[in-house]
Amino acid sequence: MSVHSKLYEGKAKILYTTDDPEVLLADFKDDATAFNAQKRGTILGKGQINCSISSQLFKQLEAHGIKTHFIDSPSPNQMRVRSVKILPLEVVVRNIAAGSLCQQTGLPVGKLLKQPLVEFYYKNDQLGDPLLTRDRLLLMELATPEQVDAITNLALQINQFLSGFWQQCGITLVDFKLEFGLDSQQQLLLADEISPDTCRLWNTAEADPNRRVMDKDRFRRDLGNVEDAYQEVLQRVLQAVESKN
Ligand code: TMP
Ligand code: ASP
Repeated sequence: MSVHSKLYEGKAKILYTTDDPEVLLADFKDDATAFNAQKRGTILGKGQINCSISSQLFKQLEAHGIKTHFIDSPSPNQMRVRSVKILPLEVVVRNIAAGSLCQQTGLPVGKLLKQPLVEFYYKNDQLGDPLLTRDRLLLMELATPEQVDAITNLALQINQFLSGFWQQCGITLVDFKLEFGLDSQQQLLLADEISPDTCRLWNTAEADPNRRVMDKDRFRRDLGNVEDAYQEVLQRVLQAVESKN
């Protein structure tokens, strides 16, 4: 596979075109940002770790019948993916109250939600990725009503599968963000990545509210030991995958 030109550079990944117009190469970076890129830093080894974790999770999801953009991972920090048109939506699924849900509602951090909450945010850095209502999303024509329903169902299925998978890792899946795209046949595929950058992951055996954090909140909140936490998540994912095979 020969790699052509840089197509797009985001905060955590660079996308390159390849000789196949249906295939892109995603290069995962060590760069870390938070609070709409107001906070910037580097998490050493993050590119490889997030690419490896995402690759494993996409493979597991594919085996579970969820269609994703993942093709393969030709090197530790690179993923070959199907070219999709990303819908400008950040789809957040929450099982336990944390982050912006607590800031905006006053719910206490750690409160178990009676049922998973699926939320849509507008993927627009200039506007600060605002929370959308279904009506606003439809008004803005960011997706069709059928796509919203399909995404909601997929997000809940993915949550059910991933919650179980992370449980096998001794990790509690608090919340996470998904992105979806449409391929050349208008087929809806799960895209982007699933990693400690995009999930809140708490060490189930640890009660301390700071020590239990195994995700990007360590970077966002300056909790330290960021690299160690990401590495530990990868080791647990690899162990869980191995024990399944
Ligand atoms: P929030 O509580 O800040 O809204 O975040 C919810 C989840 O979404 C959390 O797991 C982190 C993830 N997330 C992203 O992946 N990208 C983002 O830009 C933000 C704000 C959150
Ligand atoms: N996506 C956020 C940013 O724009 C980072 C985050 O909080 O996850 O920097």
